[in-house]
Amino acid sequence: MRQLSAPLAGDGEVELKEIVLQPREPYPFPWPVLRFFDTFPETIYLDPPALEPFGPEAAERYDLVILGYQVWFLSPSGPTAAFLKSPEARTLLKDTPLVTVIACRDMWLMAQERVKELLKAVGARLVGNVVLVDEGGSVGSLLATPLWMMTGSRGPRLGGLIPRAGVKPGEIQASRRFGERMLQALKSGRPLDDSLLRGLGAVKVNTRLIATEKAARRSFLAWGALLRALGSRGAWARQPVVAFYILFLIALLIVVLPLSALLKTLTAPLMRARIAAQEAYFSQPSGQ
Ligand SMILES: Cc1cc2nc3c(=O)[nH]c(=O)nc-3n(C[C@H](O)[C@H](O)[C@H](O)COP(=O)(O)O)c2cc1C
Repeated sequence: MRQLSAPLAGDGEVELKEIVLQPREPYPFPWPVLRFFDTFPETIYLDPPALEPFGPEAAERYDLVILGYQVWFLSPSGPTAAFLKSPEARTLLKDTPLVTVIACRDMWLMAQERVKELLKAVGARLVGNVVLVDEGGSVGSLLATPLWMMTGSRGPRLGGLIPRAGVKPGEIQASRRFGERMLQALKSGRPLDDSLLRGLGAVKVNTRLIATEKAARRSFLAWGALLRALGSRGAWARQPVVAFYILFLIALLIVVLPLSALLKTLTAPLMRARIAAQEAYFSQPSGQ
C-alpha cells in the first residue's frame, strides 16, 4: 500500500490520510496451526471481530478511498469485514469512489464478491481493483504461503522446490503506477469512474480457479456452520473438528485438485465462451 500510494503521499497538492484497522484482540504472527484454521468459520460468515475505535480521520469525507485488504479463507480478512460493517464505513464511504487493493496468495475472486456486496450496502462506488498475488504461482504458493503464515519465514525452502512466499518485490514497486494514475486523475479533476485504472494490468483472473473457489467456499460454509454450532473461536469442542478438517483439506488437495485440474484441461475447449464471460466479469472494473 505504501508503494502504491507513494505518488499521492509525495505530492503537495493532495492530502493523503491513512486509517489502520486495529483489531482489539491482535492476531498472532506466525500463526499457530490450530489458531489459523479455527479462524475460518467466523471469517467465511463475515462475523466482525471487535476493532479499536477509529481516529477522527474516519469521520471525514474523501475524494477517493483506497481500501487495502488481505484475503482470508476466500473472504475479506476479519478486520476488513469489521470495518465495512461499521457505522463509520457508512459515513466515510457513502457515494465515494473507492479502489480495492488486494495482496493474497492467488485466490481472491470470492472475497472480492463479498467486498462488492459490503460496499454496495454502504453506498460506496467501486471504481477499481488492483490484485497482487504471490510470486510462487497457484501451485507453488499452495504450500509456500501457509508455511510462511505458520513459521514466519518466507523461504524459499528445500532448495527452491517450495518457492519464496509473498508478492515479488519488483511487483510491489511497480504498483506505484496505480498511485500515479490516481494522482493524475485527482489533479485533472476528471470524474473518477471505472476507467480509472484501465490499461494498467491491475488484475489477472486465473480462470482455472473460478470453479475451485466456488467449491471451496461451499465447503467452508458447511464446515464453518458446524464449527460455529460447536462454540465460539477457541472453544475446546471445536478443536478436534478443526484438526479433522485440516486432515480433510490435505486429503482434498492431494486427491481432488489433480483430478479437477485434469477435468478442467479436458473440458476447456467446450467451456471457452463461458470461461471468457466469467473472466470479463471478475476482471471488472479495472479490466486485465
Ligand atoms: C488466516 C489466513 C487465511 C488466508 N486465506 C487466503 C485465501 O483464501 N486466499 C489467498 O489467496 N490468500 C490467503 N491468505 C494469504 C493472505 O491473503 C496474504 O497473502 C498473506 O496474509 C500475506 O499478506 P501480507 O503480505 O499483507 O502480510 C490467508 C492468510 C491468512 C493469515
